Amino acid sequence: MTSNQAIQQRRNNAVPRGVATAMPFAAAKAENAELWDVEGKRYIDFAGGIAVLNTGHRHPKVMAAVAKQMEKFTHTAFQVVGYEPYVELAERLNKLAPGNFAKKTIFFTTGAEALENAVKISRHYTGRSGVVAFSGAFHGRTSLTMAMTGKVQPYKVGGPFPGEVFHVPFPNDLHGVTVADSLRALTTLFKADVDPARVACIVIEPVQGEGGFYVASKEFLQSLRKICDEHKIMLVSDEVQSGIARTGKMFAIEHSGVAPDLITTAKSLAGGFPLSAVIGRAEVMDSVPPGGLGGTYAGSPIGVAAGVAVLDVIAEEKLLERADQMGKRIMDRLSGLAKKNRFSCIGEVRGLGAMIAVELVKDRQTNEPDADLTKKVTAKAQENGLVLLSCGIYSNVLRILVPLTASDKIVDEGLDLIEKSIDQSLN
Ligand SMILES: Cc1ncc(COP(=O)(O)O)c(C=O)c1O
Repeated sequence: MTSNQAIQQRRNNAVPRGVATAMPFAAAKAENAELWDVEGKRYIDFAGGIAVLNTGHRHPKVMAAVAKQMEKFTHTAFQVVGYEPYVELAERLNKLAPGNFAKKTIFFTTGAEALENAVKISRHYTGRSGVVAFSGAFHGRTSLTMAMTGKVQPYKVGGPFPGEVFHVPFPNDLHGVTVADSLRALTTLFKADVDPARVACIVIEPVQGEGGFYVASKEFLQSLRKICDEHKIMLVSDEVQSGIARTGKMFAIEHSGVAPDLITTAKSLAGGFPLSAVIGRAEVMDSVPPGGLGGTYAGSPIGVAAGVAVLDVIAEEKLLERADQMGKRIMDRLSGLAKKNRFSCIGEVRGLGAMIAVELVKDRQTNEPDADLTKKVTAKAQENGLVLLSCGIYSNVLRILVPLTASDKIVDEGLDLIEKSIDQSLN
């Protein structure tokens, strides 16, 4: 039998350390919210492949749609020969995205590619170059998306990065940044650094993903919408992590009532197959001339077939409602835990729908982040049979992205393991 250690050794020799792997074992198989390693150990998967598996590992309907597509053809390049599932998925996303206006959708392969293209489209439409993003944001690892990302270590060491990208603090009450502070910083930016008439887009994650699951308030998003309208700036909602039913809405920005000009999405869009999209106002999307957008693999037949099946599963299995119920169950349990003296290290339990975070602190009065404890907890969780990821600008946040298709029994088992792992890490 191949051992985890043997694969790890070969990996260390053959693969650069830059692609860090959180878990020290290799996957052998996975089903819905469970995963087994090559030595047969079972894990509950609370990472969902970093928000890719809202419909679970290998959902039977997604598998069947992909198998059916593979019987027909696997690649033509959409720029060479088109195909119906691409068009169908675009039609359906146009209907699902918020905003009472005509929309169009284009597909790509990765989240970063979607962000790159959202900026490119915004620049074409407005004829401007500036991009405003937020501290703590994560938008990807390509050159432009590294520039847009608001966390230096480990994402943007090196450089140089493309210019004309500016950052404003993301509101974060827990760590002393109010909505008013952020809006004031934007005003200052427009006075001191860049004329708003030169800004093409403001890009925001309605719930920051890698940044720590901090939720942008309705008030803040509505203010950004107003500012964008006033200065004719495109508002881009990056829903690569928060989209596709995770928060109880198809897109997290819907909670605020704001309709962005463009939405980027990826991850759970195709239930485990590589696919991303930019959805936006039709006239904005059409501003780029033919040939200006695309990619050899962008919107692959396999990806879009999977995407259509994912949208069917979300509707048939009522996963928006399920995200709310599951989120409440997780919040109740973890908030209860936070009330116990033993668990005073839990500074905050927060989230939107089933996108939930537990922030670990050294002291509840100061909310001083405890990154070491967080590291211990994720390591203990792995020993205990739970795949659990951390995130956060201070690396002190446990994040829960369990498939929305998981049973209550599995969710409870995972929560038991979180409790046990925190408890053991405190000893
Ligand atoms: C909000 C957000 N945007 C963009 C990206 C980049 O996506 P990808 O890794 O597919 O390029 C991520 C990835 O985690 C993300 O969470």
